[in-house]
Amino acid sequence: MSGARVLATAPGRVNLIGDHTDYMGGLVLPMAVQLGTTITATRGGDRVELSSAQVPGAVSFGLPVKDATTVEPSWGRYVAGVAAELGATQGLSGTVESDVPLGSGLSSSAALEVAAALALGDDGTPLEVARRCQLAEQRATGVPCGIMDQLASAAGVEGHALLIDCATLDITPVPVPDQARIWVVHSGQERQLVSSAYADRRAECERAAAVLGPLPAADPADIEALADPVERARARHVRSECDRVRRFARVLATGDLTTAGQLMRASHDSLRDDFEVSTPVLDELVDELCTHDGVFGARLTGAGFGGCVVALAAPGVELPGWQVHAAAGARVELLD
Ligand code: GLA
Repeated sequence: MSGARVLATAPGRVNLIGDHTDYMGGLVLPMAVQLGTTITATRGGDRVELSSAQVPGAVSFGLPVKDATTVEPSWGRYVAGVAAELGATQGLSGTVESDVPLGSGLSSSAALEVAAALALGDDGTPLEVARRCQLAEQRATGVPCGIMDQLASAAGVEGHALLIDCATLDITPVPVPDQARIWVVHSGQERQLVSSAYADRRAECERAAAVLGPLPAADPADIEALADPVERARARHVRSECDRVRRFARVLATGDLTTAGQLMRASHDSLRDDFEVSTPVLDELVDELCTHDGVFGARLTGAGFGGCVVALAAPGVELPGWQVHAAAGARVELLD
């Protein structure tokens, strides 16, 4: 038992544009935010024992992990999934603190996974850590998620959003201009049906890609020629969303927030009409925000089906949510 005391911190993220593209090898533009999750713990023993300041009930499980899906309380499954991916045999005992609003679309689960990986001693590159945490999330929840959330948390760069090509996993930091204010507003609607609908959408995209090849580069005429109207619409979203991400990254870098806002609005419309992951509550909130003085654009962010909207606004605008800043990625310190 080494007894080292560690402090591991990992940020949540907001996705500015590029949803439901990561698992198809497309482009995304998330940024790590100043809200994060911190694990303070002593390494050693063969159990993971963590209590949380926010959620009642402590997590306690033995190593090596046999089945992450049965750990209670359920937030412990993310930690157990990570321990299983790492093949961890050295335990931890400590506390988890988080100011990432839970289940709000700011990737509280990815922040917990990445903090847990670092606390458990994962010393891989941000990409390696993110990959293990993505597999941990799939293991813990059964949702076939992509890598965006974990990679944004592990690889965040202060003051920058990350343009990630999910085919090559190349990351290009894009500076967020000083005059851009980014807000996350909760719709008040809890996410619904996320796991099954997410898996359905991914399967529909994969069927389209089996005919067309990689969707981010598919020829629009070939997409329109697909026989199945559902696959056609899903493919159209992935292709058009990747184009929007590319353009958004360009106009953000030049400070053209008007065009950036229009691209966000177009992204929402595509997620609503072609990808069918919006809800009337999200649509109404986006419509309302887009007519608000000083707001350049808004869109649902993350998986959809409820949860949060992200808005791009001018300085001085106050919205009923969290104003977020682009923060650095996860880190770990040995305390003594
Ligand atoms: C969730 C998943 C991500 C991504 C988004 C949609 O947040 O965890 O991998 O697919 O949905 O863009």
